[in-house]
Amino acid sequence: MPHRKERLLEHGYDEIREYDNPTPGWWHAIFLGSIAFSALYFAFWHGSPMAWTPQDSLAADRTAYYARVFRTVGELKADQPTMLKMMADTRWMEFGASIFAANCAACHGAAGAGLTGPNLTDDRYINVRKLEDLFTVVSEGVLPKGMPAWGNRLTQNERVLVASFAASLRGRNLTGRAPEGEVIPPWPTFEPPPPAAP
Ligand code: HEC
Repeated sequence: MPHRKERLLEHGYDEIREYDNPTPGWWHAIFLGSIAFSALYFAFWHGSPMAWTPQDSLAADRTAYYARVFRTVGELKADQPTMLKMMADTRWMEFGASIFAANCAACHGAAGAGLTGPNLTDDRYINVRKLEDLFTVVSEGVLPKGMPAWGNRLTQNERVLVASFAASLRGRNLTGRAPEGEVIPPWPTFEPPPPAAP
């Protein structure tokens, strides 16, 4: 830097001499600025009620996504005709499968063959006698036996879809946990509504 008067320092290390080159002002400004910024950053993200977490963003995205997807169906009823209709629709069952993978697979296995929770692919059930019972078990859980209640954690539509998906696993008879409970009558068959008269 020719415009600055450089001063050779007095001492030498093995006869190596050095100039006094202080760190420039702009460097100090960035250094101190980043310390000040980190304090504000820390205070905002850890102390401010206006801060949000990645979980909040995910929940907001999911709510928006569900609102878009569910706009077409409104609130699904937890009755047999609705569940049969959902089970017959592959797109809704894909949706049910994703809810199952996220919330149920940890205990019932990725394919529903059972881990700590019972196998959902055979004809035997502990708490279920008819199709709608799946929705009730999912919503209310079987708390003493380790099946959580999902009534507060999943919306009505999510529970109808995941219960319908769980019902659709029946009959795959995958090897996993041994069948438990009683054999129950098959699910009713889906009768699509007759086409509207021309
Ligand atoms: C923490 C483990 C766990 C999770 C997570 C879990 N379950 Fe369960 N589930 C169980 C257990 C244990 C039972 C057996 C209850 C009993 O013995 O009465 C059960 C029972 C059931 C039953 C009744 C089966 C029968 O034979 O009566 C259904 C249906 C079911 N779960 C569906 C689901 C769905 C759908 C989800 C996700 C929304 C889910 N479960 C999440 C542990 C779990």
